Amino acid sequence: MTLSLKVGSFLPIMTNQNDGVSSSETRKKDHLDLAMKSCTNLMQIDHRFYYEPALGIHPRPDQKSSQKFLGHEFDFPFWVSSMTGGTEHAFVINERLAQLCAEFNLGMGLGSIRPLLESHSRLKDFNFRSTMGDRPFYANIGVAQIDELLQKKELARLEDTLETLQVNGLFIHLNPLQEWFQPSGDRYALSALEVIREYTALSKTKVIVKEVGQGMGPASLRALLKLDIQGIEFGAFGGTNFSLLEQKRKIENEVNPLTFVGHSAEEMIGFINKLETKKEFIISGGIQNAIDGYYLKQTLNSNSVIGLASAWLNPARESYESLRAFFMNLAQQYQMCEAFLKLKKEGE
Ligand SMILES: Cc1cc2nc3c(=O)[nH]c(=O)nc-3n(C[C@H](O)[C@H](O)[C@H](O)COP(=O)(O)O)c2cc1C
Repeated sequence: MTLSLKVGSFLPIMTNQNDGVSSSETRKKDHLDLAMKSCTNLMQIDHRFYYEPALGIHPRPDQKSSQKFLGHEFDFPFWVSSMTGGTEHAFVINERLAQLCAEFNLGMGLGSIRPLLESHSRLKDFNFRSTMGDRPFYANIGVAQIDELLQKKELARLEDTLETLQVNGLFIHLNPLQEWFQPSGDRYALSALEVIREYTALSKTKVIVKEVGQGMGPASLRALLKLDIQGIEFGAFGGTNFSLLEQKRKIENEVNPLTFVGHSAEEMIGFINKLETKKEFIISGGIQNAIDGYYLKQTLNSNSVIGLASAWLNPARESYESLRAFFMNLAQQYQMCEAFLKLKKEGE
């Protein structure tokens, strides 16, 4: 089944700035003017759900969609997926995202802290424990950097940085394709599985493993889920793709067909549902609206939250108010899904 993953496709369509307070006469006039332009066609119908208008009530303004995730109580099942750090611009974005997590009881992963392994000169771009309060706050590093630290017996450099940041744990990202396409990217001499197994045997840090836009196949998922990790973030195919991004940084225009291998979030859910696991999951990769997130979360049998990365960027760049408004819209639309949509089971 194909997901409808358009930015803002779930935003309310504002036709009249005064809607809600407009007089009945103005509203009736709008209806006449716009009725001819507001026809749907059968191709547009979303077949993933039963729509049950008789069974739900509208979300109240103060309503929460609470759930436990990684041992923390969340007010809404949303996660800020790993993005940025290492520039002044990144500091502003991260600070606003951390503020959002604190206000709405969400969780956040930082972008790669690789620059901090060399020097703490840009520590402030990553140092948001005080803004996050007691919310789940995770650092992020590539599996290649972990391998390098293990080889050099310098793991303490990473562990000290994690302690300085006061994070709850660490995302380890697997990105063999991105590294391959990246000019002077890292090369894996050991499999990611072997490196993470060794790291988890040596460190007490809680680990979540993620991809960065390609997703993961069933054998990788099965093997990783046997390790001593908290869970997996999908980083599925269908959204931001760093293999493509690295090729766009080069001069050649041709895109390598390897860019298009991978797995959608929906396909990954099919793989995971066949496994016996109590681990937790962040469903991410191309999720830009609440209805797709709701659909995927409903389909996965394990405990999960919905991770967004690029969708936060524009509102977070603008201002905290824009980010807050974006999130409130997302959360309300999610609650509308909870109230009025029931997932169709396979074959229904
Ligand atoms: C600007 C940007 C920077 C990112 N940096 C990282 C990173 O440092 N480490 C990582 O594991 N993933 C990184 N990601 C990947 C995301 O965490 C996520 O897996 C991927 O973007 C898919 O989510 P999206 O489609 O919602 O953007 C980054 C994504 C974006 C958009």
